[in-house]
Amino acid sequence: MSGKKFPNGFLWGTAISAFQVEMGRGEPSDKTDWWAWVHDKGIHEEGITSGDTPRDGPGFWELYDEDFRLIKDDLKCQSVRMSIDWGRLFPESTEDIEVDVTLDAHGNVASVNIDETVIQALSDKAKRSSVKRYREILESAKERGLTVMLTLFHWQIPLWLHDPIAVHKDIDSTDKRGWLDNRTLVEFSKLVAFIAHEYGDIVDLYNTINEPRIISEHGYLSAHYEFPPGMYDAELFLKVMKNLAIAHGLAYEQVKKWDTQSYCDLGPCTVGLVPVLQVFTPYNADNPKDVEASKLIDYAFNEWGLNAVIHGDYDMNLDYVIQPEEQLPHLVKGCDFFGVNYYSRWHISHVDNGDVPLENFKLMPCEGDCTDYGWEVYPEGIREVVNWAYKRYRRPIYITENGIADKEGDQRNRYLKVHIEKLHQAIVDDGVPVLGYYHWTMMDNFEWSDGYKIRFGLYQVDIKTKKRSPTKTVKLYRAITSSNSPV
Ligand code: BGC
Repeated sequence: MSGKKFPNGFLWGTAISAFQVEMGRGEPSDKTDWWAWVHDKGIHEEGITSGDTPRDGPGFWELYDEDFRLIKDDLKCQSVRMSIDWGRLFPESTEDIEVDVTLDAHGNVASVNIDETVIQALSDKAKRSSVKRYREILESAKERGLTVMLTLFHWQIPLWLHDPIAVHKDIDSTDKRGWLDNRTLVEFSKLVAFIAHEYGDIVDLYNTINEPRIISEHGYLSAHYEFPPGMYDAELFLKVMKNLAIAHGLAYEQVKKWDTQSYCDLGPCTVGLVPVLQVFTPYNADNPKDVEASKLIDYAFNEWGLNAVIHGDYDMNLDYVIQPEEQLPHLVKGCDFFGVNYYSRWHISHVDNGDVPLENFKLMPCEGDCTDYGWEVYPEGIREVVNWAYKRYRRPIYITENGIADKEGDQRNRYLKVHIEKLHQAIVDDGVPVLGYYHWTMMDNFEWSDGYKIRFGLYQVDIKTKKRSPTKTVKLYRAITSSNSPV
């Protein structure tokens, strides 16, 4: 034991997400863009998806109670971070339920007015068995004494709002273009109002959107087209970044309106955003082009979205200057905390792809201490990013994800230990108010386009029997959580 302690009340937890763990046993959730994406033959043949399907997942939808038992009694955690699948609650469109939408002078969704009648209509439309099952799941977590952190959007959009295959083939062929369109923001506001109204009594902390930047980058600015709809266009990337920042605000407003019951030390009904923060550094620090590219990526990927949510600054031409028309303070609704996902550092190299600066970069392959995913192990980064985010935006922080792709399980203990040590230094030596840590992830799961070959789990899962078996890290994490210290 190190003798060092985390602050009293520090929340230890583990994180999961609906699409990645729910399926595997009973009824699949087959009405979302991600489902369509990973099942599409053409997308697979393009080499984008692995061919694995969430149907072989851990089966949390049925086995949740045992998972909460492991989280509470085996890992000795106090909290779980989980998400809700939009397509399970609303497999059919909610667009016919009328609401008043206010657009600002630029055509942005400034507010969505939802009243009791709308909530009732949503309630009538929601799939009953899913509404009931989510209540059972959340109650089971609460009955075990776990604080529930709920993510409102961890990536699946219902197919009635996003047809990723059509967009991928020809963006003009469909009006179901997900986060590119205002209608998705309006429907998302309805979803959030419904969830806050329905489950407000059992949710303690809310995350609005998980990793807006990853949604935008992997979906609209990735040469590998990993995420739906697999586009490569800096303008679309920024448009989605913008809409996700606006969607955060709309969701914030709805939760505050409809959930007045839950609480944590931050006050009643606490709502935060979950950015992934990464360290970006020039590949060749002596090459001014690499330095410039790295600066731009850091700005566009880490800073841009937080400036939008916190200050209403939308630098649409990425010139580092906020013109009057880029200042949209009326879209700022609030953000009680940041849930920071931290994994890695990336080395950025300039490449010549044309006239658009944001398209002229490459994430260089990891060269040093690398995970199965080819991500660099850079523990100092967790300390750097929480310092940066807190000093700049003054929001308390939860680490909502941190973990390692390590199939053999021989790197995870070291990864966990050094990251926890660095986090402790950030809190105790630097004074950053980090209030909790959620390890990604509780069990091996469906790692999006990469399927099952990538393993982040503290427990391994047998695809056939669904049996959970502890990795070596369970013992270490338990020692950390139960002693409230970096061991
Ligand atoms: C996401 C998770 C994902 C993890 C590892 C994060 O970007 O929130 O859903 O599994 O990283 O890739």
